[in-house]
Amino acid sequence: MEAPLSGTLLNEPLPSYESLLKLVQATPALLEVTEPRLNRYIPHYPHEKQAAFLLLECLEAFYGGAAGGGKSDALLMAALQYVDVPGYAALLLRKSYQDLSLPDALMARAREWLEGTDAVWDRETHTWRFPSGATLTFGYLETEDDKYRYQSSAFQFIGFDELSQFTLTQYLYLFSRLRKKDGVVVPLRMRSASNPGGRGHEWVRDRFIIGRGVDDRIFISAKLEDNPTLDIASYEISLAVLDPVTRAQLRHGDWEVRQSGGMFKRESFKYIRREMLPGGLSKVRYWDQAATEKSQKNSDPDWTVGLLMGLQVEKLKEGEGKPTRSVRKYYIIDVARLRGSPAQVDEAMKACAAMDGKDTFVYIEQEPGASGKRAIAYFIDLLRGNTVRGDPKTTNKITNAGPYSSAVERGDVWIVEAAWNAVFILEHEAFPNPNIHDDQVDGGAGGYNTVGKSSGLLEWYREEAERVKAMKEGTSASPS
Ligand SMILES: Nc1ncnc2c1ncn2[C@@H]1O[C@H](COP(=O)(O)OP(=O)(O)OP(=O)(O)O)[C@@H](O)[C@H]1O
Ligand SMILES: [Mg+2]
Repeated sequence: MEAPLSGTLLNEPLPSYESLLKLVQATPALLEVTEPRLNRYIPHYPHEKQAAFLLLECLEAFYGGAAGGGKSDALLMAALQYVDVPGYAALLLRKSYQDLSLPDALMARAREWLEGTDAVWDRETHTWRFPSGATLTFGYLETEDDKYRYQSSAFQFIGFDELSQFTLTQYLYLFSRLRKKDGVVVPLRMRSASNPGGRGHEWVRDRFIIGRGVDDRIFISAKLEDNPTLDIASYEISLAVLDPVTRAQLRHGDWEVRQSGGMFKRESFKYIRREMLPGGLSKVRYWDQAATEKSQKNSDPDWTVGLLMGLQVEKLKEGEGKPTRSVRKYYIIDVARLRGSPAQVDEAMKACAAMDGKDTFVYIEQEPGASGKRAIAYFIDLLRGNTVRGDPKTTNKITNAGPYSSAVERGDVWIVEAAWNAVFILEHEAFPNPNIHDDQVDGGAGGYNTVGKSSGLLEWYREEAERVKAMKEGTSASPS
């Protein structure tokens, strides 16, 4: 049955799903017109939120939240909604072919649903063809460039399952493949589903949770309870073994809770305006270079980061006869972050050196062995005019970031207010987390560990000697 409600009530002004549900429950007659369009290829009858998802005719909708909420099922149902219409074409995407072909994933589920019907499977193109001439194709976008494989196709339905595994650019590109065909009367629908977490968590959250209701964009939150088909009690037991953040994401579909590695808390960083920076800082620009460039194979490689760290050492004398104590304040002044060819990285390093000035030491993370030494020699030549040193790469990133993390926690690290702050903090909060980049943390740790070395070394030795002497004599001097 057609769904007149979807075109009206769900658009301006946008009622929440809950208010719509209340309205429908209070007006039983509405139930009849709120039944989504279904057909004989869809063997499941949609649960309430799935039905809401299937009723939508707006351009963009996202069904996001708890694992097991019935999201993939809803996507497959949505893709099949118009396969009785001649000329209709639907595309369902996962990140990789492997994801697509997992036992309970979309392709297997479609086979279960469609085998034995009059739809025919084409193995070559991963496409189901229906007697109407409509098609349902399964695809994947493993690399950034895979999106071009769909260059010459047109679909009226595109569905992304596990959207947070894709990049925003992949998602946006596919809008160009969403086109009406002459005479095919179906809505154009970009649909997606996902659990929170994953590399694309931030952009998915920004687009659909923060940006819901913008430009005809609808978010339906999925909860485990929304899927009565699932044995929730036994699923809860499986989820109980997860860490609290992943559990909140998967059990409750919580988009706000973040994967925190626990080494850096956002509230421990202090902020300072650039013009308030103290003068006379010892400065280091620390470069942590990405091993791989962005390529067809790797759409989300590491970043090259050049972090400018300043150090101020203040002398405090706590009283007559007491040794002086030094207070160290660290300032993260700038973060250059890029993905580029070696030549582009060289250019960025030169530009930063010119901007930072000759009194800024340049430290570069140094790979082991002769190749590492050669690379440093190359940079010494490239950045003539600045003092350039190699900093041997450490094998244990967590230990390496330890002193930096303690300084942040003590409140000794300030960051200069700038556009890069948000991503910088997010990355720090997540560290250590294998799914989230840590190049800026490496940059921060590198900057912290080297900025003290670059100047005042003798000073430091002298203070240490005084501190040890004072300890031996029984006077306490707090270590800096
Ligand atoms: N309306 C329905 N009728 C019958 N079974 C359903 C329905 N909706 C979902 N299911 C079944 O419930 C199980 C979980 O659903 P589904 O895989 O769609 O959830 P999901 O939200 O995509 O989970 P995940 O987060 O793990 O990907 C599946 O076996 C699915 O077939
Ligand atoms: Mg799923």
